[in-house]
Amino acid sequence: MNEESGTQCPEEEKNVDKNVIEDLMGDYIYKKSLRKAIEFTEERLGEIGMCLAAEKKRKVINQVTSRIKSTDSIYKKMRRKSYSADRAGILKCNDLLGVRTVCLFMDDVYEVAECLKKQKDIRVLKEKDYIKKPKSNGYMSLHLIIEVPVGTGKNAGKDGDGKESQWRKVEVQLRTVAMDFWSVLDHQLVYKKEFPGAESIGEELKDYAVTIAELDKNMLGLREKIEHLNV
Ligand code: GTP
Ligand code: MG
Repeated sequence: MNEESGTQCPEEEKNVDKNVIEDLMGDYIYKKSLRKAIEFTEERLGEIGMCLAAEKKRKVINQVTSRIKSTDSIYKKMRRKSYSADRAGILKCNDLLGVRTVCLFMDDVYEVAECLKKQKDIRVLKEKDYIKKPKSNGYMSLHLIIEVPVGTGKNAGKDGDGKESQWRKVEVQLRTVAMDFWSVLDHQLVYKKEFPGAESIGEELKDYAVTIAELDKNMLGLREKIEHLNV
């Protein structure tokens, strides 16, 4: 059993009813709380980016993008991970909300992550460092699963009771422009796809991931050289 599969269920219960997902994701109040969580996270990352940029006198975050996971993707993930076919199963998905933060340099990724982790009104639930330890296919990124507040009162949200309904989970992916380039292309070409020859293409992509990691290190070295020149 993997770390996310606390609500695993028997084989016969795996048939998730899409209506259950549509009901929750289509619920106006719940949807509103999801948008609020995304806005909160984007805004906070924007502030962190501005502070670091002012401190370093250069751009630190290149781009922040976000998405709410589609019903179809939630459905596929719940089946793949054998999550229970109910609301509790849906809420096991840590990435219903995703915010991607693309930084210029590798050290920026860690600095932005540290700033985010220090925020008093954000809870950090999990950290996966695929930069220090890339995935076997070469994928690199720093993932934080955080919880952000979505307000108080009866309109805060519908999942869970009391205080827990005032928080939403967000998967924050932090990476460099180079890592983003690789993973966006990998996503389009290979990720979660099965086709003849995929294995050798995967091997080639992995080589490119290594090249990209080297390039990132070299670019950081170049920046440091320039900084030492005090220009
Ligand atoms: P998913 O079911 O894909 O969400 O994965 P997970 O919940 O087991 O978590 P994991 O940390 O492995 O991946 C989370 C997210 O990172 C994915 O939804 C993708 O956006 C991204 N990701 C992970 N692995 C890869 C990869 O090999 N290639 C690309 N392009 N993206 C990846
Ligand atoms: Mg995902």
